[in-house]
Amino acid sequence: MTMRRAQLVVARDQATLAKAAAAELRRRAAEAISSRGRFTVALAGGSTPRALFLELADGHARGARPRLDDPRIHWFWSDERAVAPDHPESNFGLAWNAIFEAVRPPTACVHRIEAEADDLEQSARAYEATIERVLESNGMRPVFDVIWLGLGSDGHVASLFPESPAVFEARRHVVVTQHPQTGAARFTFTLPLINAARAVIFLVAGEGKRPVLARLLAPEIAGEPLPANLVQPENGDLLCFVDAEAAGAPPDRDGP
Ligand code: 6PG
Repeated sequence: MTMRRAQLVVARDQATLAKAAAAELRRRAAEAISSRGRFTVALAGGSTPRALFLELADGHARGARPRLDDPRIHWFWSDERAVAPDHPESNFGLAWNAIFEAVRPPTACVHRIEAEADDLEQSARAYEATIERVLESNGMRPVFDVIWLGLGSDGHVASLFPESPAVFEARRHVVVTQHPQTGAARFTFTLPLINAARAVIFLVAGEGKRPVLARLLAPEIAGEPLPANLVQPENGDLLCFVDAEAAGAPPDRDGP
């Protein structure tokens, strides 16, 4: 199922989008905890998720359930820049500043990539081992309850950039790659791990994403599929939460 078949949720603006995405995360967390005793979620990087993170923190302060410090919730990141957690570019740092510094979930529930280490490959393999341990995959493909993704204007997801060998990685779950323009080292979930999730949710906002979103949602994809179009959950849900600016259309009649 490609992006064209994703469940599309169009919100009137970024604030409404953040509220809808936060409600979806809480709903899926409650369902996972109730049915499986645990919720495993990988957060997206970049700047778009900040509004979602602030909304989650605000909901937590208002008593929303489940609490974000619930020890049955395990937090991961679907990609990371090879920088220290307090670096302005850190995806972990974005979530830490927006949510976790105040909420303080148990440290055993917050699984950060050791992105500042000298040996990046070792950090990637250590993260794979953590994922396999926490998700109790027992040698099978680990299955996240939810993996959040952003969308790059070039169609990249996580740090899977067009023409990058990492896009075609068929065995590993986390690999080291690099940004095509800056060459900066990155860590990223691979497509086999992403496509094994119970749900993959895109969070896309702003007029700048309209062209790439229109291309991804078009009936036929001309040319090579973009990494975002290779996000095709085998058994999971595929949702795309967008604001009206990115969608280039008014919000759904019954949309948030
Ligand atoms: C990252 C992200 C990346 C991001 C997109 C969209 O580490 O940068 O994981 O895939 O989601 O580039 O970024 P914006 O939200 O900043 O537009």
